[in-house]
Amino acid sequence: MAAVAHTLGLIKPDAVEAGLMGRILSDIEAAGFRIAAMKMLRLSRAQAEAFYAVHRERPFFASLVEFMTSGPVVAFVIEGENAVERYRQLMGATDPAKAEPNTLRARYAQNIERNAVHGSDSPTSARREIAFFFSELELVSLNAEVVAV
Ligand code: RTP
Ligand code: MG
Repeated sequence: MAAVAHTLGLIKPDAVEAGLMGRILSDIEAAGFRIAAMKMLRLSRAQAEAFYAVHRERPFFASLVEFMTSGPVVAFVIEGENAVERYRQLMGATDPAKAEPNTLRARYAQNIERNAVHGSDSPTSARREIAFFFSELELVSLNAEVVAV
């Protein structure tokens, strides 16, 4: 049996604006994950730049930061077996035109940038991104059996 793990998810401003929060969270729970922490917030420019710092040399960086600061996001910690990889599968490809049917991006994304959801791409990213959005105090509902987030 695969180990229980945690990953960081975001509902991006396009999906919040479109009223898709409830459906996306429902799909995540229906896929067998548990939401272990959650908050709604609006990222500042500096925060969005720091969160996506790995992409700062990419041509889409300025546009991505503009988009991610355009409205509130919902940040949450997802708990489940193999959560990082399994949640990436549930999200589907970055470009919704290439996403598998029934993935979150196939269902809810508008285009390669306004693609509804984010998910950490590795356990290392998950640790960094969970700590980016949540303090230790806010992580009380994480499964106590799990040693490392
Ligand atoms: P994410 O980090 O948001 O979960 O998405 P991802 O791993 O599937 O994609 P990544 O390569 O990390 O890109 C981060 C976000 O930047 C926007 N993007 N725009 N215009 C473009 O070609 C382009 N490519 C990426 C998307 O919002 C993407 O999710
Ligand atoms: Mg990424």
